Amino acid sequence: MLVASGLVKHYGGVTALDGVGITLDAGEVHALVGENGAGKSTLVKIISGVVRPEGGAIELDGEPVRFAGARQAAAQGVAIVSQELMTYDDLTVLENLFPYGAPRRRGLVSTREMRRLAAPVLEELGIDPPLHARAGELPLADRQLLEICRALLLEPRVLILDEPTSALPREAAARLAGVTWRLAERGLAVLYISHFLEEVMRIATRVTVLRDGRVVLPGAGAADVSLDSLVTAMLGQPAAHGAGPAAAPGGRSGTEPAAAPPGRRSPSPASRSPAGCGTSR
Ligand SMILES: Nc1ncnc2c1ncn2[C@@H]1O[C@H](COP(=O)(O)OP(=O)(O)O)[C@@H](O)[C@H]1O
Ligand SMILES: [Mg+2]
Repeated sequence: MLVASGLVKHYGGVTALDGVGITLDAGEVHALVGENGAGKSTLVKIISGVVRPEGGAIELDGEPVRFAGARQAAAQGVAIVSQELMTYDDLTVLENLFPYGAPRRRGLVSTREMRRLAAPVLEELGIDPPLHARAGELPLADRQLLEICRALLLEPRVLILDEPTSALPREAAARLAGVTWRLAERGLAVLYISHFLEEVMRIATRVTVLRDGRVVLPGAGAADVSLDSLVTAMLGQPAAHGAGPAAAPGGRSGTEPAAAPPGRRSPSPASRSPAGCGTSR
């Protein structure tokens, strides 16, 4: 569905991406992993129009695309939830959900229509925020979920989640895993970045590893890759005993969400059972 190739990006003297490519297919959850600074966020910002590359190309359904910004990418079906949250703190929760223009009725912004559109997505994510509160008043976890909700309301075909569970408690993270799964079943391509390796590999169908701005493992079948070999690919060497980037720095320890969808690492999302997704034990 989306093919990026040869992407190059420098920041001053730093080579963030050095000829990176990735392929995203409909119906997959594609994990993107790598150590801090490997270039993951830069890659997904380029794919979603937030950052412009110095070289390389992106194709959507075989057609070359060049996004002038995130809004244009969203209009073509590519939505991102950035690692750095982009909540508009002074706007209401509801207004935050429609950053590219609220639905209108007879020329006027329709709060009712906003509520109607948002309700099923909020329900799917399992949140019930005060819609007229200022978004800045919400706890961090709720803001993170709000941004995921915002991306889903764009009805993307390609959804990019950059560390979406970093601020989430276990139950919400597990629920998001279920949501991610169902989105893939509906035919979306989901690109999922997480430093919770076990968490992301439980829901991924494929995995790409970046190291120092290069792809060191391109789109391998998740079922064919052990956690050990992933860590080795990320580091360029086997992890020191008892250490390794799989451990969450100061986050949820153990990398395990409380509950995860069953059918770990099934070869295709269609073969997974949605039963139990999004529940917590
Ligand atoms: N806006 C920026 N300005 C300067 N350097 C940046 C910027 N964004 C990323 N970098 C640098 O580019 C490299 C890749 O960063 P990033 O894509 O954020 O990696 P990751 O998401 O894998 O941690 C790092 O060395 C980082 O410091
Ligand atoms: Mg990052």
